[in-house]
Amino acid sequence: MGHPTGQSRGWFGRVNDKQVYAHTSFCLSSILNPGEPPLDKGIIPWLGHVFEFRRDTLKFLNRMKQKHGDVFTVQLGGFYITFLQDPFSCGTFVKEKQEKLSRNKFSHQLMKQAFGYEDIKSDPEIHLMAHTRHLMGDGLVLMTQAMMSNLQNLMLHNTGSAANQSTWKEDGLFMYSCKILFRAGYLSVFGNVPPESEGNEEKAKEKDRTESDTLFYEFRKYDQLFPDLFYGVLSPKKKKEAQRLLTFFWDALAIHKVRNKDNISRWVWDIQQAKAEDGMEESMISRYMFVLLFTTQLNTGPASFWLLLFLMKHPEAMAAVKGEPDVLDSAVEETLRLTMAPIITRSVLQDMTLKMADSREYFIRKGDRMAVFPYSAVHIDPEIHPDPHSFKYDRFLNPDGSKKTDFYKGGKKVKHYTMPWGIGVSMCPGRFFATNELKQFVFLMLAYFECELKNPDEKIPEIDVRRWGLGSMQPDRDIQFQYRLRY
Ligand code: HEM
Repeated sequence: MGHPTGQSRGWFGRVNDKQVYAHTSFCLSSILNPGEPPLDKGIIPWLGHVFEFRRDTLKFLNRMKQKHGDVFTVQLGGFYITFLQDPFSCGTFVKEKQEKLSRNKFSHQLMKQAFGYEDIKSDPEIHLMAHTRHLMGDGLVLMTQAMMSNLQNLMLHNTGSAANQSTWKEDGLFMYSCKILFRAGYLSVFGNVPPESEGNEEKAKEKDRTESDTLFYEFRKYDQLFPDLFYGVLSPKKKKEAQRLLTFFWDALAIHKVRNKDNISRWVWDIQQAKAEDGMEESMISRYMFVLLFTTQLNTGPASFWLLLFLMKHPEAMAAVKGEPDVLDSAVEETLRLTMAPIITRSVLQDMTLKMADSREYFIRKGDRMAVFPYSAVHIDPEIHPDPHSFKYDRFLNPDGSKKTDFYKGGKKVKHYTMPWGIGVSMCPGRFFATNELKQFVFLMLAYFECELKNPDEKIPEIDVRRWGLGSMQPDRDIQFQYRLRY
């Protein structure tokens, strides 16, 4: 894990010696600056609570909340992180200026550590323009259309025909959903093999299928390493494997290859173009292509699995979705409430005062970090979402069928009643496209196939607790299903 002279890696980052010294000296004498949140350093010097935190983040944060209340600072791998777990005050993240609470400093460190990518100064502006134009504006329609045609190519290939329609195919639902979503998403963002290069369109489609298949399996390997990589605790052997995979993706997504594709999304095109104009080397732009692949694919596959599984396990929800497409939006939101668990983190760049919704104020030190874990702060709070562990497909619908946005705690309205996409400046710009992807996938599954669980009585798998804080949760095992063409 490193040592107190500043070599920690991963999410816990690189420790600032002065900060450790300052906090250590205060805490040895048990004195905090006036107005600071309760500080819990754990019993292991410098590492603090890191092992308990990694073992089960949700359990650990719940324990801390019970002990200290909804604002507390914990020591994790040399860093002091203040968790803000009051549902009414999460908006502080939205309101605080970037000069005080910065997303960029933290994300630059992570990009370098996990993806071998080093940013240049003008990046945020470039990204924001490309996101707004192509993931939210007119470009969203084009990307959604591309997704539809790629999903059709992948889902209908090799599924038989009317002549042998009674043949069931079996697969693990998690692997099937992740594989389809990954491959279709990758092709929609990075483009298709041009028919000219293969001789005809059929051959080009075939190549899209085989290439995206290879990429998917390598991506799964990287994804498996990601929790330990993110938290900076990979063993040397696994580090080597992570490096091999990065090199594989940098080559597969090399910018000269991406530029030769057909239908490359304007989003990727504009970003790589702007980086080139800014003077970034081609090899570094290729590395960024993997950052984009990872960002776009990390959550979508697992989310599509949970959505389809919840629908299959809840016949009333399945019937409602088939009868009234608007219900699907609520079912998607409910799925994300139950299975999306990112930790939203900011670096504290200046000493600051955290102002809570109920007028409490806390002094927060420069050099520390602040974080919100919406899953426990909001998503599964039984006052905000009664019976919080149950899937209720219509939880986000009013009786008249409109979108429900009124949720309360203690009689007071909760503005941020779910946060699967994060909040504030770093809120996921791909949320509209991602929602479309999930809805398209479910729509096509239900339109093309009869599908059922092999064992309808099998319980919904447990969540794999190693992934708390990283985004979409994954199941601790797969669940078998079968499907066959309807016509
Ligand atoms: C179910 C699918 C998805 C979920 C739940 C999701 C969620 C998130 C979350 C939680 C963040 C980080 C927020 C933070 O740290 O404060 C994020 C960032 C981001 N997402 Fe998504 N995402 C999904 C799919 C996508 C897709 C399909 C795209 C693009 C096509 C995308 C593009 C991005 C980008 C570019 C960022 C970085 C924003 C920044 O740092 O400025 N996401 N996403």
